[in-house]
Amino acid sequence: MSDPGLQGHAALVTGGARGIGRAITLTLAARGADIAVVNTSPESAALIKAEVESMGRKCLSIQADVGDPVAVKLACERATAELPELDILVNNAGITRDRLLWRMADEDWDAVLRVDLSAAFHFTRALTRGMTRRKFGRVINITSVIGQMGNAGQANYAAAKAGLIGFTMSVAKEFGTKGITSNAVAPGYIETDMTAGLTDEIKGAMLGHIPAGRFGVAQDVADVVAFLASQEASYITGQVLRVDGGMLMG
Ligand SMILES: NC(=O)c1ccc[n+]([C@@H]2O[C@H](COP(=O)([O-])OP(=O)(O)OC[C@H]3O[C@@H](n4cnc5c(N)ncnc54)[C@H](O)[C@@H]3O)[C@@H](O)[C@H]2O)c1
Repeated sequence: MSDPGLQGHAALVTGGARGIGRAITLTLAARGADIAVVNTSPESAALIKAEVESMGRKCLSIQADVGDPVAVKLACERATAELPELDILVNNAGITRDRLLWRMADEDWDAVLRVDLSAAFHFTRALTRGMTRRKFGRVINITSVIGQMGNAGQANYAAAKAGLIGFTMSVAKEFGTKGITSNAVAPGYIETDMTAGLTDEIKGAMLGHIPAGRFGVAQDVADVVAFLASQEASYITGQVLRVDGGMLMG
């Protein structure tokens, strides 16, 4: 059933046409928000636009590389011009370039830091201006449990995701009195294209560490994002909410 709790709001979701981002886009739209999706692939961009519009919401589908600050600036200008009520930002786009440290090239490090961390800075800097004017805003950063526990072969990804947590808390402190909350959501193992390539051996070992006894699905993350975007979550800020079936505790 459609829940209109976000009617009158618009959300920009990076990487919002696939995987976890797609579930976030559709869940926010189902709750009444208009949507801007920033994505690299033209095929999935067209698909998500049609899906959101079939729900009766506006959807702006912008093709841009979030790792390029100039492209981000242009995307934000276009999104705020076409959706002036844009006050929810979900920094979801992410990549991995896994290599053990000695084999990790500078480009593997830089690419992951650009997409998984710097993009959030560029989008948040641009879009918090409008949120401040509206005296309402939601910045929701999709980090990872890896940012809190580290992982062999993922020094770049862990550093970016840990950086995103520090960034989230700093934004919460800077904008706390302006009606803007800033939170991070830290998924554990979620079944998407990003995790599809892992071997059965690695998957089996991981499952043994998940008290819920199952891997997560994109909707598990999207429901938490929708809650953090809502009016009901207005006194939650600077937090990291793990959506990991209990994989990491304490
Ligand atoms: N799947 C998991 O188990 C898991 C766990 C923890 C955190 N996460 C995080 O959740 C987020 C979504 O992951 P997913 O599993 O849905 O991944 P995915 O690979 O299925 O989707 C990533 C999305 O980001 C977009 N994207 C990537 N680089 C981009 C760029 N440079 N510019 C614009 N768009 C770009 C892709 O087009 C895609 O839509 C990521 O930040 C990821 O790190 C995922």
